[in-house]
Amino acid sequence: MDAFRIVGGHPLRGTVRISGSKNAALPILFSSLLGGSFSLSNVPCLRDVKTTLLLLEQLGLKISVRPEPLAESKGFDHNEPIWSDLLEISEGTTSPFEAPYDLVRTMRASVLCLGPLLARRKRARVSLPGGCLIGARPIDMHLKAFERMGARITIHHGYIDAETDGLEGSEISLPYPTVTGTENIMMAAVLARGTTTITNAAEEPEIVDLANFLVARGARITGAGTSTIRIVGVERLDPVHYSVMFDRIEAGTFLVAAALLGEEVTIREVESSPLSSILDVLKAMGAEAEIHTGAITLGAIRRPRGLSLRTLPYPGFPTDMQAQILPLMAIAEGPSSVVETVFENRFTHVMEMNRMGANIEIHGSQAMVRGGSRLEGAAVMASDLRASAGLVLAGLIAEGETEVRRVYHIDRGYEAIEKKLEALGARIKRIQEDSP
Ligand code: UD1
Repeated sequence: MDAFRIVGGHPLRGTVRISGSKNAALPILFSSLLGGSFSLSNVPCLRDVKTTLLLLEQLGLKISVRPEPLAESKGFDHNEPIWSDLLEISEGTTSPFEAPYDLVRTMRASVLCLGPLLARRKRARVSLPGGCLIGARPIDMHLKAFERMGARITIHHGYIDAETDGLEGSEISLPYPTVTGTENIMMAAVLARGTTTITNAAEEPEIVDLANFLVARGARITGAGTSTIRIVGVERLDPVHYSVMFDRIEAGTFLVAAALLGEEVTIREVESSPLSSILDVLKAMGAEAEIHTGAITLGAIRRPRGLSLRTLPYPGFPTDMQAQILPLMAIAEGPSSVVETVFENRFTHVMEMNRMGANIEIHGSQAMVRGGSRLEGAAVMASDLRASAGLVLAGLIAEGETEVRRVYHIDRGYEAIEKKLEALGARIKRIQEDSP
């Protein structure tokens, strides 16, 4: 298994290109099950994207990556996309409807095939995603919405079986603004008969990106980015070319890296508005950010100040940035606290950070950070995607050597993070675990 070996304390300097968004690319890719054809650029080269493409191929879609397939051997230039400039997707001649356990278990977002399969093929058999380390994460809201839209759903032998004679537009009121739930319903509603209204919808920028893409294909969607989304069903979707939005969590992770160690770091191919809550927190901790068109520059905070925050649905501070902000809180002057309101059990990285010298106590859903710690390198284990990013950041400021194990988690969602950090001056190498 791969690990990262990091020698901490080296300043970061330079420019880094932020990749296309994983959480926008996945639903857009799954929407190909709605039929027709389209091409995409700015799709990040990630394990979750490859899993999605495999699953879509099993579901009968034709996919080509240009100019060359998965060009991983190509020399790495941290200022260029590292693979497909263009990804083309079209319907094949068969219409399977089963998403098997082997693929779904590796990626919870596979559940995003359910809505488009039901809408287009009227049948879907999708393995239940199962629990994962960040809480139970059920999909009951997705299923209730599809039932309301006219699907019959049963669960047997770990599979969701769903079928319909044709989805009908409906009023869907979500008990919680679930992100993939909102996307799944929106995709199903695009081809349903009549009008669907989603209230208490999630407002994440990735939902707006999916809606913009679908509208460019001829879908009739209004209100994406607000809590009420209205979708009027259409017969079919048109071909289009679309460029996926930037990854705001990758951007946020590099901003924290800059706040920890930046002589001067510029992230580019970004917009500031989806990053507002992250920038606000960094500013409150003492950062001075320069916002340019398409780029943000930040240097290390000399004396970071502790602060209290809660993770919240967008536009609040993202749960996907909680693990990354903790190392900054650990070294800040004065105490900090983080209340995790989105997921249960999302503090698995804290024990590992404490082994590196942080002083963080967990009380239920709250992490109390003492502050003023000096971190020391240690061998630590990554337990999920964002936890791994938090441990990498901790390793960058720790004294001495840190080995972050199980970095396959980070490869699910960060495009060549070690190469991007290395290009900025970090000492970080991908190694085989336990290699000398
Ligand atoms: C998405 C993101 C993930 C991010 C999360 C919250 C993708 C591919 N993933 O995940 O990176 O951390 O949003 O911003 O975009 N819930 C239910 N029943 C449901 C659905 C959700 O109880 O049917 C609960 C979940 O257990 C969780 C909360 O609602 O506690 C939020 O989950 P949700 O917004 O659905 O997260 P995801 O869409 O899975």
